[in-house]
Amino acid sequence: MENKIIIPLDLDYQEAMKLAHLLDSKICRMKIGNQLFTSSGPKVIKELQQDGFDIFLDLKFHDIPNTVYEAVKSAADLGVWMVNVHASGGKQMLEASKKALEHFSNPPLLIAVTVLTSLSKESLSDVGLDNLDDQVLRLTSLAKDCGLDGVVCSSSDTASVKREFGEEFLAVTPGIRPSGSSLDDQSRVSTPSEAIKNGSDYLVIGRPITGSADPKRALEEIYKEIS
Ligand code: C5P
Repeated sequence: MENKIIIPLDLDYQEAMKLAHLLDSKICRMKIGNQLFTSSGPKVIKELQQDGFDIFLDLKFHDIPNTVYEAVKSAADLGVWMVNVHASGGKQMLEASKKALEHFSNPPLLIAVTVLTSLSKESLSDVGLDNLDDQVLRLTSLAKDCGLDGVVCSSSDTASVKREFGEEFLAVTPGIRPSGSSLDDQSRVSTPSEAIKNGSDYLVIGRPITGSADPKRALEEIYKEIS
């Protein structure tokens, strides 16, 4: 099983670097999100790249098209492997994010967030969205039409995303919990092997690894389960 697991470094700088030094860049990639990027900025990306890690910059851009264009361009300048935007930012914003990568010879993969895996049907209904499945497919269709490379979606959405939009269109899946581990704040979860079975290309697995007493072993156990 190739390098399929992405580890979110939702940690402070010291903890993130300590964890990265325990893990092998040949078997996992690193995700830098709002917490670590806000506290430590681009230097943490550079340091992890020097250690050989591919970086998914998970800042989920969602703003007016020009702002997202510049933000995605800045992310690509940092040499990250993957970057993302919210599909709900709309067609013009998605097209601008794609256009931002036009002049890069080796651009990052550009991924759209559909519906956060922490949102349950009830919490979606609170914000006026009554059909979760339709919403995921509608946003995925928009992202594909605008030329993005794939979506972030839950494992249970992955099979229909692949069926409707093709095997090549990437599915990046958070909300992964090995059986028996705590759900934390996630709602729509699946085990690593279910996610692989559903067709996920990359699994984002955080606290079951980062919160483990032995993160290296926890990662190896997950690979054992999926291979
Ligand atoms: O610790 P855990 O495995 O829940 O971490 C999941 C990671 O995936 C977090 O960094 C979170 O920001 C991210 N994420 C998510 N749901 C999405 C998109 C990203 O949980 N739809």
